[in-house]
This record gives sequence, C-alpha cells and structure tokens, in this order.
Amino acid sequence: MNDSPRLTVIGTGYLGATHAICMAVLGYEVLGVDVDERKIAQLASGTVPFFEPGLPELLAKALESGRLRFTTSFEEAGRFGDVHFICVGTPQQPGSDACDLTYVEASVSALAAHLDRRALVVGKSTVPVGTAARLTSMVQELAPAGTDVELAWNPEFLREGFAVDDTMHPDRLVFGVASEWAEQRLRAAFAPILEQGTPVVTTDLATAELVKVAANSFLATKISYINAMAEVCEAVGADVKDLADSLALDDRIGGKFLKPGLGFGGGCLPKDIRAFAHRAEEIGVGQAVSFLREVDDINRRRRARTVDLVRELLGGQISGARIACWGAAFKPNSDDIRDAPALDVARTMHGLGGHVRVYDPAALDNARRAFPELRYGESALDVAQDADVVVLLTEWADFREIDPDALAQVVRTKRIVDGRHVLDAKQWRDAGWEYRALGRS
Ligand code: UDX
Repeated sequence: MNDSPRLTVIGTGYLGATHAICMAVLGYEVLGVDVDERKIAQLASGTVPFFEPGLPELLAKALESGRLRFTTSFEEAGRFGDVHFICVGTPQQPGSDACDLTYVEASVSALAAHLDRRALVVGKSTVPVGTAARLTSMVQELAPAGTDVELAWNPEFLREGFAVDDTMHPDRLVFGVASEWAEQRLRAAFAPILEQGTPVVTTDLATAELVKVAANSFLATKISYINAMAEVCEAVGADVKDLADSLALDDRIGGKFLKPGLGFGGGCLPKDIRAFAHRAEEIGVGQAVSFLREVDDINRRRRARTVDLVRELLGGQISGARIACWGAAFKPNSDDIRDAPALDVARTMHGLGGHVRVYDPAALDNARRAFPELRYGESALDVAQDADVVVLLTEWADFREIDPDALAQVVRTKRIVDGRHVLDAKQWRDAGWEYRALGRS
C-alpha cells in the first residue's frame, strides 16, 4: 500500500479507537490522537480502555505490525497525516437538547494550525446539519495551507458490541464531499473495504451529516413504535411479543429494532434524536420531525412503566423490598452506561426505598463510579440472594440462560420482571415463577 494515504484518527473513544485499530489492521499507517494522556498511554501499551469484543486482539496485532502509534501531539498529527479523521464525542449540552460541539471545534482548530500542506479532514462524529460547512471555513482560515485543506464528511454507523465487524464490513459507506479530489482521497483511505464490494453513496456535506441522524431517528422510531403498541396491548390484555413476531414476518417491516421492552439508551440514539429535533427547530423545519419528541416520550415512559410493573408484582410497595437488578449497561456486550435504561430503573427503585442490588457482566466498574449510592453484587445469583423480585434490565446471554430452578434456590419469592422479553414465559411459569413483562398479559 505504498501510495496509501497516511491516516490520523483524532479522538480515541469507542468510535476513534476502533477506527484507528481496524485501519492499521487493514494495512494503513495510522496515528491515533487524543488529549487524554491516560487513554493514549493505555492504547499504546496494548490496553483497550473500554469493553468491545474482538478489539483487544486487533490492537495487539496492529501494534505488533508497527503501523499503529498514538500521540497527544496535534503537531505530530499535522506532520504525519494525509487524511485526518475526526472522531471526538458530541454529547448533549447540559440543560439543553442541543449537541455540544466543543470537542469537534477544539480538535479541528488544534489540528488546522499544523496543516501546512494539502490534506483532507474527515468528520465522522455525529453533528447537526450545517456543521461541516462551518468547519470548512474555519479550517481553511486557520490552516497555513489555506484552501489546500479540504473537509469531507463520512458518518459512522458502528454499533457498540459489533464495532469491529461494523468497521471492517460496513453495510455502506457515505462520502460527503465538496470536490472530486476529496472523493478520490476517501476512496484511497477505504480501498480494502471498497474492494469487498461495499456500496458507496457519494453526496454533499449536508446530506452526509443528515444520513447519520436520519438513520438513528428511524431506528429509535421503530423501537418506540413497538413500545407504543406494547402500551396498547397492556390496556386490552393483548400480547406485544406475538404482535411484534407477526409484524416481523412482513418483510417490508422486518424484525430488526422491533423488540419491545425497556427501550433504547446509550450514547447515540437518545441524544441524536433530541439534537436533531433541536436543530430542525433552529432551521425552521421543527414540525417535520416533531414526532421525534413523541418517540423520546414513549421511550422514557418504558422506564417508568417497568418500575410500575415491579411495584404491581410486589403488591403495591417498592419501599423495603429486596430487588435484584440484572444489567447496568445500556445493552448487552457493552460496558457503556450512558443513558442506560437499566440504571435509570435501578436508581428510581432505590429512590423509592427499595433495597436494590445490581449486577452486570461488564459495566459494574462504570456503574459504581457513576452511582456509588447503589449496591452491587458479584453475579446474577449473588444479587438475587433473598430477593423479593428479580428484574432483568439488560439482555446479557448470562441472564437469558439462567435456570429458573437454580434461581429459585436463592430468592425469597419467585417473581421475575422480564424487561427485555428474552425469557421463555412458559418455562418460567411452569417452574412456579410469577413472570411479568411489559405489554404481555
Ligand atoms: C446505534 C446505531 O445502531 C449505530 O448505527 C450508530 O452508529 C450509533 O447508535 P448503539 O448505540 O451501539 O448504535 O446501539 P444499538 O445496537 O443501535 O441499540 C440502541 C438501543 O436500542 C439499545 O439500548 C438497545 O437495547 C435498544 N433496542 C434495540 C431496543 O430496545 N429494541 C430493539 O429492537 C433494538
């Protein structure tokens, strides 16, 4: 790959670290950049600072190849790279639905100051539409190379827990570009992935920015749609699981992201739909996506309804009950607790006076740090010891596979709330359990 561009990846969180490692494994010379010295030291010594299946092995391989290095120096990044990927976080602004662009602006301007030759800066972070156009002017003003530096947008669709596969074998690549040269640079930067036959959509900057929020909004809407149906099912004693299974068999609808339950969380879906609705209002098209507010409300109600269900099962009283909470991460195969429905439910029940104990296979350290007021245990069975009710909040395989008879040995009362519709209701009822799930009679 002698004529391959040298890549920098700025921001080494879930997205950036995965991108940097995978690109090095694919054969590129890559420099990972972050302002967090600790994170950079960890990555450089072969430790992935978060839980992501398959990534530690690839980091070892990439470091061994000599193609992957890490630094905190933007000067080094400017000197080294031909194509610079911006992968920093864009969280929700405190006290607002708007997207916080502080890290994007800081990293782009820190980099721009060291761009003294032709280079391409590629945004991957999720941003409000219009950001790329603004950053183009900013980077060209700040860079010594001026308009020789171009900006492109290449949204990232990776899911936590499947980040490696989603990066190595994406279902599509979107190139938002302002020139033929930028497109050719991106094609060179993704050559091995394009050779697999991955479809590419080449478009303008604004469309590329929108693709990401439109995709996440669609996914969030699909989840809230089935959860809205669960509310209706509850009112009439119908079964949302059978309803969802029936809808899924219509291949125009499909079964993905149609699983009812506690709803969505994480660092993307919740904040992306809020930021999108906020941005749409700013540009005068708020009405077009006003349904996203409803999607958000339905999703928040799932958390409250799950607490209600536990209360009902306990005979009306959460205070004083011993409650085993299974799961803290926002979804299985992740240690990410950002906007995690599981922890929201656990904290609410703790606040209502329940004796809550939480277990999660990967997210316990993060949960302990964020919510030291909660009590934690060492295993699913440990937290279920003498429990009045077990509440499954994140569908880890460990929980799905638990034997109802083994669990019956440790709990005080055989009551279970399946917040994710993953247990076999009949099996649990046959084993003498009171089994409840939202939207199922
Ligand atoms: C998401 C997008 O899928 C990804 O393309 C984007 O780049 C980042 O945001 P991620 O946040 O990793 O990825 O999680 P995802 O697998 O999409 O799940 C999001 C949430 O939806 C989880 O809390 C999950 O539990 C929930 N979910 C998902 C449901 O409640 N029901 C479903 O049917 C599917």
